[in-house]
Amino acid sequence: MPDQDDLFHPVIELPEDVREQRYRRLVGLDEQKIRLQKEATVLTVPDRLQQWAKKHHGGQVSALDLLGDRAPLIVFGGDVGTGKTALAESFGCDLSTRLGLPVLLYRLKLTTRGSGLVGEMTTLISDAFSVMVTEGRKAKGKNGAKSVLVMVVDEADAVAQSREQRQMHHEDRAGVDAFLEGVDSLAGEQLPVLIVMCTNRLGALDPALRRRAAATFTFGRPSPEQRRVVLTDALNGLGLKAATLDQLVKLTGERDGRVAFTYSDLTQRLVPSMVMAAFPDGPVTDDIALAVAEDMAPTPSFPEAKD
Ligand SMILES: Nc1ncnc2c1ncn2[C@@H]1O[C@H](COP(=O)(O)OP(=O)(O)OP(=O)(O)O)[C@@H](O)[C@H]1O
Ligand SMILES: [Mg+2]
Repeated sequence: MPDQDDLFHPVIELPEDVREQRYRRLVGLDEQKIRLQKEATVLTVPDRLQQWAKKHHGGQVSALDLLGDRAPLIVFGGDVGTGKTALAESFGCDLSTRLGLPVLLYRLKLTTRGSGLVGEMTTLISDAFSVMVTEGRKAKGKNGAKSVLVMVVDEADAVAQSREQRQMHHEDRAGVDAFLEGVDSLAGEQLPVLIVMCTNRLGALDPALRRRAAATFTFGRPSPEQRRVVLTDALNGLGLKAATLDQLVKLTGERDGRVAFTYSDLTQRLVPSMVMAAFPDGPVTDDIALAVAEDMAPTPSFPEAKD
C-alpha cells in the first residue's frame, strides 16, 4: 500500500469553517453550485436517486441505470483565477450538510512531475486511485455510506492533455492512460468517491477523459455585475464613493482591446495594491484606488481555456 503522505496533502474533513465561508463568498457560481451538488450527490450516494424515483415515480425507472453507469468524474475547466480551485476545495462543505455525512477532501500532489524519473507520474496516479478504491470501500459500509471522499486533481493539464498532442512527452501520455484506468476502476464499484479535475486547458483535454466525465463545468471571467459584487465586498470599510466603485467596475472591464480582470486579479492583485499604495502614510482614497486600477493590467487570457 503506497504511503498516503507522498500522494496527498493532509486530508481535510469537511465541513470546516474557513472553507464553508469561502464557498459562500464565491460570486457568480450559483448555477454551477446547484448542479454540482446534484451531480455530486447522485454520483457518490446513488441511494438518494433511488429514494427519489420511489417517491416520484413509484419505483425503478430505467433512466436510473443510465445515470448509475457514469464514471464519478467531474471536470472544472476555464480561465485562470476564476474560482476552480476555490470551488473544488470547498463545495464538500455544502455536500456534507446535504448528505448528513462527513466529506473527506483528498488533494493530489502533482509535485513529483519534472523530477525526471520516467514512470513516476504514472505510479503517482495509479497509487492515488488505489488509495481511493481502498478508502472508498471502507467508507461505503454495509448499511449505506459512512463518509464521502472527494479527490481533487488540480492543475491537471499534464495528466489531462490529449494523447494526440504531438509535443507531449512519453511520460505524460502514460499519465493520461493511468488516469483513464483509475477512473474506470472506480466506475464499476459504486463507491462514495468523486474525482474533481481542474484544468485551464479544457480544449486540450483528452477526448477519452472528456467522454467519461459525468459533468463538465466551465468558469469564466466576471461580468460587470459580478465585479461589482466582488469589489463591494473587498473594499468594504474603506469609505470610497459610489461613483468610484462605478468607475472601478469600468476600469476592470474589457477596454482598449484587452480582456477583463479575473476574480483573482480583483482580490489578490488590485485591492491589495490599493492598500499597499496608501500604507503606511494615509488612508486609501478615491484617487489612490482609481490610479492603481488605471495602471494595472489584467492577467492575459489562457489560450485554450475555452472549448
Ligand atoms: N467566483 C469567485 N468569486 C469570488 N472570488 C473569487 C472567485 N473566483 C476566484 N476568486 C478569488 O480568486 C482566488 C483564486 O481563485 P482560484 O484559485 O479558485 O482560481 P482558479 O480558477 O483555480 O485559477 P487557476 O486556473 O489559476 O488555478 C480565490 O481564492 C478568490 O479569492
Ligand atoms: Mg486553480
